[in-house]
Amino acid sequence: MARQKRIGILTGGGDCPGLNAAIRATVKTAIQTGYEVIGIRNAWEGFFDEETEVLDSAKTSGIIDRGGTILGTSRISPLRVENGPELVFDGFEKLGLEALVVLGGEGTLSVATQLFKMGLPVVGIPKTIDNDVMETDYTIGFQTAVQIATDALDRLRSTAASHHRVMLLEVMGRHTGWIATYAGMANGADAILIPEIPLDEERMEQLCQMLEQRNRIHRSFSIVVIAEGTKLEVENEGYSFAVTPDGRTYRRGGIGAVIGGIIEKKTGIETRVSSLDYIQRGGTPVAYDRNLAIAFGVKATRLVEEKRYGEMTALKGNSIIAAPLEKMANGIKKVDMKVYKVAELFFG
Ligand code: F6P
Repeated sequence: MARQKRIGILTGGGDCPGLNAAIRATVKTAIQTGYEVIGIRNAWEGFFDEETEVLDSAKTSGIIDRGGTILGTSRISPLRVENGPELVFDGFEKLGLEALVVLGGEGTLSVATQLFKMGLPVVGIPKTIDNDVMETDYTIGFQTAVQIATDALDRLRSTAASHHRVMLLEVMGRHTGWIATYAGMANGADAILIPEIPLDEERMEQLCQMLEQRNRIHRSFSIVVIAEGTKLEVENEGYSFAVTPDGRTYRRGGIGAVIGGIIEKKTGIETRVSSLDYIQRGGTPVAYDRNLAIAFGVKATRLVEEKRYGEMTALKGNSIIAAPLEKMANGIKKVDMKVYKVAELFFG
């Protein structure tokens, strides 16, 4: 008797709300289409350690609203591990897989692109709270992070008003300021600082002048949002760094505290800094992310069925489409300046 067709699924990179909804959607539609689905645990590491499990309908029921990923994740890239690609190909072979569905951000999907070029039949699903993946309008997890950041800013607004303070909130966004822009705009923030616009001395001066002016008018308070990846060209200290298990170092949070300190020193206005850090990445996905995850999961299964490997699911306007992974790997998607300009109309 011929063995049932099998596909694998993994989640890589930082987790985000909506991953489980996407796993559920992919597994359930794949089962309906006649596939058996194997979950690869902890991203590519599951291939190295042979940590895998059959995902059936029961295992993927009741997880649509759960944050994180039932498969676990990691930032280890097989391209930086000795014989990494071979280990992935061997594992893929041993499991008798026909294709692999990879849920990842720009990093994981770029690795998937390289492995596809080496011959691995992959289909991608874009996810990250940062929303910086090219070729798709939105990634899974982004809208939830925006909602969490907006709720936090709304809370900061009331305490800022009581104390006539400058309140600064640092949000995630290592390379881009998508969360900062959308949450800041939704809250009516007075300034939004993002990596796409470097903070030089002149901009810092303008920011402080605006905050002073607001403070003079009825001792008004101010709300400032900053994306963690914002570059400061004035000073360069106070950041924290993260090291991935395979040895790459990247700059993380800390910029908020640096900027807050400068604002307080220059303006003399009491300034308080908060950072949302991992709170914005955990917990229940909003309905938008669940529905996007479902649409992406269904589309990914169809791409596998049609053997359209080397493609990823994407949202363009109101349509769910397929986009070449190779195009996605061309870079990162920066904040749409048309959107930023709209937010800017309400600054100060
Ligand atoms: O998932 C992307 C991201 O949220 C970035 O904005 C942030 O810098 C990074 O993850 C932190 O991830 P970790 O510390 O889990 O590696």
